[in-house]
Amino acid sequence: MNVDDYKEYISAETMMGPNSIRILAELLDKYPLQLVPDDMILDLGCGTGLTSFIIAKETGEKVFANDLWISAEENGKRFAEWGVGEQVTPICEDANNIHFEKKQFRALISIDSYHYFAGSKGFFQEKILPFLKDNGQVLIGIPGLKDEYTGRAKELLSDWIGEDAYMFKSPKQWRELIGNTNSIELVKTWEMDCFNKAWEDWLATDNKFALGDKRYFEAVIQPYTCFVGIYVNLRNCCEVC
Ligand SMILES: C[S@@+](CC[C@H](N)C(=O)[O-])C[C@H]1O[C@@H](n2cnc3c(N)ncnc32)[C@H](O)[C@@H]1O
Repeated sequence: MNVDDYKEYISAETMMGPNSIRILAELLDKYPLQLVPDDMILDLGCGTGLTSFIIAKETGEKVFANDLWISAEENGKRFAEWGVGEQVTPICEDANNIHFEKKQFRALISIDSYHYFAGSKGFFQEKILPFLKDNGQVLIGIPGLKDEYTGRAKELLSDWIGEDAYMFKSPKQWRELIGNTNSIELVKTWEMDCFNKAWEDWLATDNKFALGDKRYFEAVIQPYTCFVGIYVNLRNCCEVC
């Protein structure tokens, strides 16, 4: 995927943190989605829907764009303006309690949001797996702690993000949180390559949160944190039964 194709859509209005398009691009390039026509994709915690729009463009499939803080009405207007109103469905629901059909989605993508709601043991199995089809794929990119600082989030990050520090977990910890069940074929977690560029794009904006992050980038964010990539591939049900 070519990030430059989408430059015109990246703005102070659509960005909510380090460049989500760079994170999405790395995930899609590293683990391309294996889709067939009429597959559906869930973008969980989609924010302003920038990633949902790009997923729709890159795959041609139907995308469900779910977020908690941004209303479905606001995102729906943006999708219509961007010409994907028919292809992308906006939804405003808490990820802890989503209402889709069981086994509805071939793929789930979640950028810079999964750490807000999915950090407890069993979340993936109970709240995500039921909605994924056999052979489904999951791509997640979230801020976290580098492996060598595992378990030290509060001590190292509190000055920067206060009580939210607990959300920062290392690739090793996320691997354990995803867990293992018969329906999971493969789980990979890693420190993503796009870290510096994604942050650079964000810090170059005049968003008030970016200005706050700028003060901590060299002393805290760059030395201790990373973007954690998570890839999960599900088994074909016939292999499990
Ligand atoms: C930092 S923003 C990132 C948004 C977008 N994915 C991006 O990369 O630009 C985090 C998003 O997580 C969403 N979020 C947080 N808690 C959530 C929950 N419980 N259910 C659904 N979305 C949630 C928020 O609504 C917010 O838009």
